[in-house]
Amino acid sequence: MPRKALIAANWKMYKTPAEAKAFVEAFLPLVAGHTRDEIALFPSPVLLPTVIAAAAGSHVAVGAQNIHFAEEGAYTGETSVGQLKAVGGTHTLIGHSERRQYFAETDEIVNKKLHTALAHGLIPVVCVGEVLAEREAGQTAAVLKKQIAGALAGITAELAAPLVIAYEPVWAIGTGKTATPEIAVEAHKIIRAEVAKLLGAPVAEELRILYGGSVKPDNATALIGQEEIDGALVGGASLKPDSFTAIVNY
Ligand code: PGA
Repeated sequence: MPRKALIAANWKMYKTPAEAKAFVEAFLPLVAGHTRDEIALFPSPVLLPTVIAAAAGSHVAVGAQNIHFAEEGAYTGETSVGQLKAVGGTHTLIGHSERRQYFAETDEIVNKKLHTALAHGLIPVVCVGEVLAEREAGQTAAVLKKQIAGALAGITAELAAPLVIAYEPVWAIGTGKTATPEIAVEAHKIIRAEVAKLLGAPVAEELRILYGGSVKPDNATALIGQEEIDGALVGGASLKPDSFTAIVNY
């Protein structure tokens, strides 16, 4: 069975509620009837109710860019899984490289967040990827294996069913430097083999691994068209309905 691709928009810290609503209103007619792939939008928390209301009744899912691992508590500035679910969010990114880089998110924190997300029935998209110095030092495989092992500590094959992983080489994010399909496929194979080792071949076979890092309409087909690449996590090119639609229609 081929894996169903997931095409996801990471809007980062962009858009007002009015802009987010206008996006969804323009985007939904453009992807009406598109059933080949799953589509998900990841706006800032303050935009979630607006985007979820605008996408209601459509096949476009909405998730958070980040969640906290605690059920609730004195964590100023954070969003709980319960809060996300209460407004209708179904997915969450975990461990995006910007969270790791600017907010000190470690593999241990990623692992705690993954446990909480899976326990509550969210679809988690765990982000991994090497920085340029690591690639140049020949450490890409070691970095990916460490991030995967860290993220999956204590996760069982049964729990892991909804898991999605996004391979995002940090040197390709927001830089316009996309990984070649060959580089991405090689990394995806390392990730899938590591997941097979930790959770068994059936989980690895079903696992969707997205590519992220300067995905644009003109490189989407070459990347997502690869058998190893099960979709895309798109930042900059997801902010406009036309360019995100062109990627969805790769
Ligand atoms: P980009 O971002 O497409 O702008 O490179 C991808 C991401 O950060 O998920």
